[in-house]
Formats: sequence, structure tokens, C-alpha cells
Amino acid sequence: MHTSLIVKVVTGRPQSSWGEAVAVPVWKGKGAPRGTLFTTLDKALKGALTEVLALGGFNGGDDIKTVYTRSKAMPARVLLVGMGEAKSADPARARKAGVRLARAAHDMKLKKLTLGATPEARGTAGTHALTGSLVEGLLYGTYRFDDFKTKEPRPVTLRQVQIVPEDTTPVRQHQDALNRINAIVDATQLARDLGNRPCNDLVPTTLAQAARQVAAEGGLKVTVLDYKKAEAAGMHAFCAVAKGSAEPPAFIVLEYHGGKENEAPIVLVGKGLTFDTGGISLKPAENMDHMKFDMCGAAAVLGAMKAIAALKVPKNVVMLIPSVENMPGGRAYKPGDVLKTLGGPTIEVRNTDAEGRVVLADALAYAKQFKPAGVVDLATLTGACVVALGSECAGLFSPNEMMASRLSAAGEATGDRLWRMPMWDEYRELVKSDVADVRNSTGRAAGAVTAACFLEPFADGYPWAHIDIAGPAYNEHTTPYGPKGATGFGVRLLVNLVENWKA
Ligand code: BES
Ligand code: MN
Ligand code: ZN
Repeated sequence: MHTSLIVKVVTGRPQSSWGEAVAVPVWKGKGAPRGTLFTTLDKALKGALTEVLALGGFNGGDDIKTVYTRSKAMPARVLLVGMGEAKSADPARARKAGVRLARAAHDMKLKKLTLGATPEARGTAGTHALTGSLVEGLLYGTYRFDDFKTKEPRPVTLRQVQIVPEDTTPVRQHQDALNRINAIVDATQLARDLGNRPCNDLVPTTLAQAARQVAAEGGLKVTVLDYKKAEAAGMHAFCAVAKGSAEPPAFIVLEYHGGKENEAPIVLVGKGLTFDTGGISLKPAENMDHMKFDMCGAAAVLGAMKAIAALKVPKNVVMLIPSVENMPGGRAYKPGDVLKTLGGPTIEVRNTDAEGRVVLADALAYAKQFKPAGVVDLATLTGACVVALGSECAGLFSPNEMMASRLSAAGEATGDRLWRMPMWDEYRELVKSDVADVRNSTGRAAGAVTAACFLEPFADGYPWAHIDIAGPAYNEHTTPYGPKGATGFGVRLLVNLVENWKA
């Protein structure tokens, strides 16, 4: 579980209560705006800060410089936080600076920190947002997943951050912005926790439990279909994947009503494979443990629901998670099987490791009953998408221009970046089957695209987009954004999409 960090906005100069350090965002370059906090501190330190900049040891790029004040009237340290060029500032860069600051604070074992707002933040929405992104990064940077450690060798010490505004925006307004950031960060940390939980701890039934908790806290309606109910509903493809495992599956439905009674909902679908062995088409042993992250799509949509409810977004939103464990068992589905589906098209199973698209097929068909304004699915669907795009962005697949442009805009705004991939008829040909309507595996070529083409006939009757997050869903190593493990990619993206959705 992540540690709690309290962030507050203060007015005036905090003086005696600075904490153990004051962090000052600094833009790169000589003529860059410096802000009043920098100027005040610099004066009190007889120009020491300007001198650090002038001597060239620090230039405001991607680094943090510690200046020791040796003054009783001041905090022991001033941390100059490099923000990069002021003219090319964006939320993603500010967020990374926040993560770096959190790491520096951790290294210095700081408990309390004062943070200046970004220098040119004078109440305009854009610059105001940059300070927000900096704080967001600071919060993300304190994330740890240590639930399963009996002894934490280096616990997070940072408990309190106070923000000094650069402008005259009422504190109230800053505090509102902070509450918003807190809600989104909280939801992202939930998504990370779910992704990081070991696969013997997080199984479909315990994932459903987590969804019930989100529902209880946010006042959402929750429905969980077990194997029998899913079968009775006609979700034979979903059930087929579940058959190889002793763990019972769960088809999880959350409904949030923040909009008008009859307004069509946005439906968010997340792939919820709590573990993917590949099934009878068994995966090789190397890195198979990564497949505990095969429910990161589910974690993202559940996190988004938590934030949407906390922020009381005035929209109607439905969440669907088909959750199963893909195992090779005596009753497991096999290559050669032909499956009936809820939506109608039959599936020829060519490879039991292409299980995500099989469970999503039924989930997408299930979405239709809600008469959605739009449906987005998030899935760690293909290794091919990781080969194509790496972990910098997710693949965006949609035959619908409105969905594609809204999602791309949300990706740019939040830093959960997307790159659109083609869905041409030539690719659609590849998923046709000789014995059934579609086949779940084709050749190696265009593996991420053919997976999307497989899903398309099941996403029938509403605007739809598919997002393959296999790359950005988790990190094998620590990165500028976050720690090793689940990233929570998609939470901010979906919250932004829903907030800006126009009927
Ligand atoms: N969960 C995997 C995709 C994956 C790979 C996610 C790497 C994260 C990292 C998915 O179920 C899968 O196994 N896909 C196969 C499809 C193939 C059999 C057509 C793949 O990508 O190899
Ligand atoms: Mn698989
Ligand atoms: Zn999978």
C-alpha cells in the first residue's frame, strides 16, 4: 500500500515551519523567469542561488541541485529543481521533475518539504496546471509496493509537503486543484497496487472484491457474474478460457450514474487476466512471471472508475472486466476448439495464448445492452505491440474518427500517450477462419493489428476504440516516471476522456 503524504497550500512565508528543505522550480536558461520565491531566497542567501546558476554546475535541465544555507533563519537546504526550457514546458516533463524531487527527498530522508509553485504560474490555467503536474509527480514518486515485505529496508520518510503559491490565486482554488490531483493519483496508485499484487493473491475473485470496495466507497452499482451466470448469459468464449483453471472466473460490472437519467453511458472495458500461462499453448518459462500484469487493463478501468466517482464527474460510465486465469488443465480449452460467443460470430481457437481477445469478444458484446455513446477497451493484448512501440506509448486502434481523435487528445493532455495504428481491410482478411467466422491467431505479421481486427466484429453497434497497453502497463526497471512494476497507465487517460466527453 502506498504511504500517505499530506500536501497543503500555504499563504505568506512559512518562516519557521519550512521543513528540512525548500524546493524551488527553476527553468533552464539565463533569461528564464525566476519567480518571487527564488528571488527572496536568493537575496537572503546573498546571491548564492544566482551564483550556482552562473557557475554552470546546474542549468535547470533534468537535474536537482542542493544548496546548503547554513542559516538558522532558513531551512537547511534549498533544492533547485530543474524544469527544462520554460517555452517547451509540458505536464509530462513537470511530472518527471516531481518524481525526481521525490527521489531526492527520499535519499536525504526528508520528512517535511516546502515547494514553490512553478515561477510563471500566475493564475493562468496552463501554468497553474504545471505546478499541479509537479505535485502529481512528487506524489507518484513516493509510491512503494511493500505489502509483502515483512521488513521494509528503506521506508519513505516524506510525510508533508507545503506549497507556496507564486500568485494571488485564492488558496481555496489551489486547494481544489490539489484535491483533484489527489483523487487521480490515488486512483493511479490503486491501479499500480492491483497490478503489482502477486498472482496467487490477486485472482478473479479477489479482483472482484477490490471492485466491490471501489463501488462501496464511490456509491456505484456492482454486479459480478460467476461462471454459471456468465454461461447462462451466453458468454461461452469467456467461459472457455476460464475452464483450464481451478480459480473461478469473475465478470465484473460497475455502473456510475453522474449524468442525466437517460444519457448514453461511456463503457470502459479492461482485460483482467490475473495470470496468463498461455494455456495449452504454454508460454516459455522465461519472464512468464510478467504475466501477473495481464490484468493491468482491468486495473486501469477500475482506477478510472474510482477517480470518476471521487470527482463526481457529471457523466454516466459503465465498467466491464472479464477476469479469468489462463491455465493448462484437464478441462482447458484447446487449439482447434470452436467457440460460440455472446455477440454471434464463432471463434476458431488456433492458439490458447491469444486468450485476451477471446474474453474481450464477449465483454464487447455485453457492452451493447447499455446502448453506449462509446466503448473503449484497454488490454495488455499483444507482445507484437511491445515490439512495435516499446513502452513509451500504447497502440490505439479504431475505425471511428471521433473515438480516435478524442483519445489522442486525452493522451497528449495527460502524458498517457497513444499512437494510432491502421485497421485496413487487407488486415481484416487475415482474421477470417476456414471453419468458423474468425480465428484467434494469425501469422506473426502485424500481430497487434490483427488482434484489433479480431475484436472489431464483436464491438458492433457503437463507436469503439481498442488500446493495447502491453508496453506501457509495467516497467521492468525503474524509469523517470515511476518504480519497477505496474505503472497505472490509462487511469489519467480515461478520466480525461470521460471529463471532456461531449454527447
Ligand atoms: N498477455 C499476452 C500479451 C503480452 C505480452 C502482454 C507481453 C504483456 C507483455 C497475450 O495474451 C498473448 O499471449 N498474446 C500472444 C498472442 C499470439 C499467441 C497471437 C502474443 O503476443 O504472443
Ligand atoms: Mn496470452
Ligand atoms: Zn494475455
